[in-house]
Amino acid sequence: MPRFAQWLTLARRCIFHGMSQLPSASAARHTVAQSRHESTALMMPTDENVRGHVFGGAILAMLDKTAAVAAMRHSRQPCVTVSVDRVDFREAIMVGELVIMKASVNWVGRTSMEVGVRVEAENILTGVRRHTHSCYTTFVAIDEAGRPSPVPPLELETEDDRRRHAAATARRQRRLEERKTERRSP
Ligand SMILES: CC(C)(COP(=O)(O)OP(=O)(O)OC[C@H]1O[C@@H](n2cnc3c(N)ncnc32)[C@H](O)[C@@H]1OP(=O)(O)O)[C@@H](O)C(=O)NCCC(=O)NCCS
Repeated sequence: MPRFAQWLTLARRCIFHGMSQLPSASAARHTVAQSRHESTALMMPTDENVRGHVFGGAILAMLDKTAAVAAMRHSRQPCVTVSVDRVDFREAIMVGELVIMKASVNWVGRTSMEVGVRVEAENILTGVRRHTHSCYTTFVAIDEAGRPSPVPPLELETEDDRRRHAAATARRQRRLEERKTERRSP
């Protein structure tokens, strides 16, 4: 069928059957892959701490933003950071290196999501990449009033998805126990 005729047929279908014939956002799949987000940034002298390494706060800000995109891609709602698990800076990142962060949703609850972020640093001149650290963050989707809002279930497709989901479930359990202990302490 010529292109114009194809377009006309589609347009007629939309007019006569309305938007219900088109795939709706709620029918969309919510796989781990669909939440995935990667961000990169070249570390500049403005990111430097007093020892010539990249300032930890610059890495944390980038990490939070990268993870937020993955959470919002999954939920398609505004999200806020509710918690960031312990971050250990074992390897310094230097000014002039390229930082690559890869984030995806590991687990979802009713309104919260755990997002894992892997951080790598690349020496652009040699192409050598180092895995500097990984971190787990929890985001909550919020409605217009700023209250927690339900998120879609997460579809696990691969063995890696299932492995990360199982590990995230254990971490979630630990966080809930920590919250309970904090509430009990004076
Ligand atoms: C996030 C926020 C909306 C949650 O409100 P709340 O009244 O505490 O909501 P709830 O206790 O019902 O918790 C909502 C979800 O978050 C989870 N949650 C709350 N605190 C958590 C924590 N410390 N770690 C992990 N998950 C947590 C709950 O388990 C729940 O998950 P579920 O719905 O999947 O079961 C509220 O705390 C808030 O607005 N915080 C400020 C967020 C912000 O400004 N972040 C930017 C950094 S300053």
